[in-house]
Amino acid sequence: MARYLVTGAAGFIGRSIAAALLARGETVRGLDSFITGKRENLSGLEAMEFVEGDLADPAVCSEACKDVEIVFHEAALASVPRSVADPVATNRNCVDATLNLLVAAREAGVHRVVYAGSSSAYGDTPTLPKHEGMTPNPISPYAVAKLAGEHYMRSFMRVYGLETVVLRYFNVFGPYQDPTSYYSGVLALFCRKMLAGEQPTIFGDGEQSRDFTYIENVVNGNLLAAAAPAEKVSGRMMNLATGSRSTLNQTFAILSELTGYSGGLAYAAPRTGDIRDSLADIGLAKELLGYKPAVSFRDGLRRTVEWHKKREAVA
Ligand code: UD1
Repeated sequence: MARYLVTGAAGFIGRSIAAALLARGETVRGLDSFITGKRENLSGLEAMEFVEGDLADPAVCSEACKDVEIVFHEAALASVPRSVADPVATNRNCVDATLNLLVAAREAGVHRVVYAGSSSAYGDTPTLPKHEGMTPNPISPYAVAKLAGEHYMRSFMRVYGLETVVLRYFNVFGPYQDPTSYYSGVLALFCRKMLAGEQPTIFGDGEQSRDFTYIENVVNGNLLAAAAPAEKVSGRMMNLATGSRSTLNQTFAILSELTGYSGGLAYAAPRTGDIRDSLADIGLAKELLGYKPAVSFRDGLRRTVEWHKKREAVA
């Protein structure tokens, strides 16, 4: 009998949450459609019951939610430019999937759903840091889809009494983030390229900034959100980040040091749908969850580079 369901379990964040749960001796069911998840990410998760399926199919959701108490909903088509290229696919895999999952969770008597929200919901507002009281201003179809999921979470809490917690992630990075796709996160791409001696490309002038958040901090935030008292967190949305930011130019300099890359950098036109700056106020997660980012940006980068080195060695 599974106690936890992790959607997107073959993806970067889902895989990492599942591994932490298994390490605690929990019973875990993982689900993935492999649209972007990777079979190789399941290595090390043999103790997890795995279901291959697509959340856009309601029958898959019903099957996945059976006997589950807590759901970590990490499955999504995570990429701003991918959503610009194909907004319908993003809607299907983010909005339809989330609604189907919520319906199934409610029917199965799931206690709580913890949802992977996105800082892209804030859009390009000049105010920094971004705090939860700000009016959402999504730009890309991806941001709209992730924000729609947040609203569904709150609606299911209000209308049906299902406990929901929304964690708005800010540029998560670390081991198991796919470095091979054009749509991969910038740090995974840069680590792989720089270790291979290939020149990375910055879209724009490199002065855009992000609150890059190491995966272990995000996993901890999720575990806290699953365990926090309902009266404190149910129906709430909060940022999950570090509360500090780095520009891409600064990050490139640190990565050059960590990878030993001595080549240059290419600059290309800024990406459509991109936001300029991103920095989180993490006061609410501190207050409601007792969350504290334990791994610094630099330490996270160091661990990520080590993981990419090992990955290359076995490839
Ligand atoms: C990322 C996440 C998204 C999440 C959001 C907010 C990924 C793929 N996307 O979006 O799911 O909701 O954070 O937490 O993880 N860039 C380059 N060169 C490259 C690739 C990217 O300069 O080769 C730039 C982009 O133009 C952008 C910045 O790096 O300015 C970050 O891009 P990316 O890693 O794709 O993340 P976001 O778009 O911020």
